Amino acid sequence: MTNSNTIISLQNVSKVFRTDEIETHALSNIGFDIQKGEFLSIAGPSGCGKSTLLSILGLLDVPSSGSYLINGQSTENLDLDQRARLRCESIGFVFQAFNLIGNLSVFENVELPLTYRDDMSKSQRLEKVNVALEKVGMSHRNRHFPGQLSGGQQQRVAVARALVSEPTLLLADEPTGNLDSKNGEAVIQLLSDLNQQGTTICMVTHDTRYADLTDRVVQLFDGKMVDEQIPLHPMAANQ
Ligand SMILES: Nc1ncnc2c1ncn2[C@@H]1O[C@H](COP(=O)(O)OP(=O)(O)O)[C@@H](O)[C@H]1O
Ligand SMILES: [Mg+2]
Repeated sequence: MTNSNTIISLQNVSKVFRTDEIETHALSNIGFDIQKGEFLSIAGPSGCGKSTLLSILGLLDVPSSGSYLINGQSTENLDLDQRARLRCESIGFVFQAFNLIGNLSVFENVELPLTYRDDMSKSQRLEKVNVALEKVGMSHRNRHFPGQLSGGQQQRVAVARALVSEPTLLLADEPTGNLDSKNGEAVIQLLSDLNQQGTTICMVTHDTRYADLTDRVVQLFDGKMVDEQIPLHPMAANQ
């Protein structure tokens, strides 16, 4: 239900891809809200529309029909510049393959989203980058390059880069997909800690163990929302 804590609202969102003669209905009538401070996961098998949905939430793509509101503001009639600006201000992304820039240091990778802003001095940027690296436990590697880090460490840096602009919403697409189970669990623990500190997160995963750790699971199948679950947390039940 939409209320004053609602930061994301999707209503009847559909997405159709058309290539030559083929029409793919990647999403059909998706509707849900995300509340401030929530940790939501989107689960479902390969090809069910998870990444398409995340691209729409992240303003990288637009729905074919339906509406998408961020902080009560419609995203429908934005031009490219307005869309890019809203994306920079509101959304942080974490991808499966980390997507760090190899010839930039850890510090420079995390600083990058801030360099597009004209309202921030060099010293303000330094402060924000240091805070973000501190949050993910990577300050001691700030002069390293991505290739000198383990996968788990690279994903921590990618999380810092996503957080540095203090986005309304952190989006993560299979953030553990390229990691072994130990590093995968550590990244989920990091996201969970950040959520406890107030970050709103929407994570795509096909791993039910990880989905079950979040506040709410939206289950997709063939582009449709087939279920919405509130997982039972054994830890919470014991309290
Ligand atoms: N740019 C595109 N053009 C055409 N079809 C696409 C495009 N992106 C995704 N699809 C199709 O949409 C469906 C959903 O894809 P995707 O969202 O990537 O699924 P998931 O992330 O759950 O694996 C798939 O059938 C896929 O082939
Ligand atoms: Mg995907």
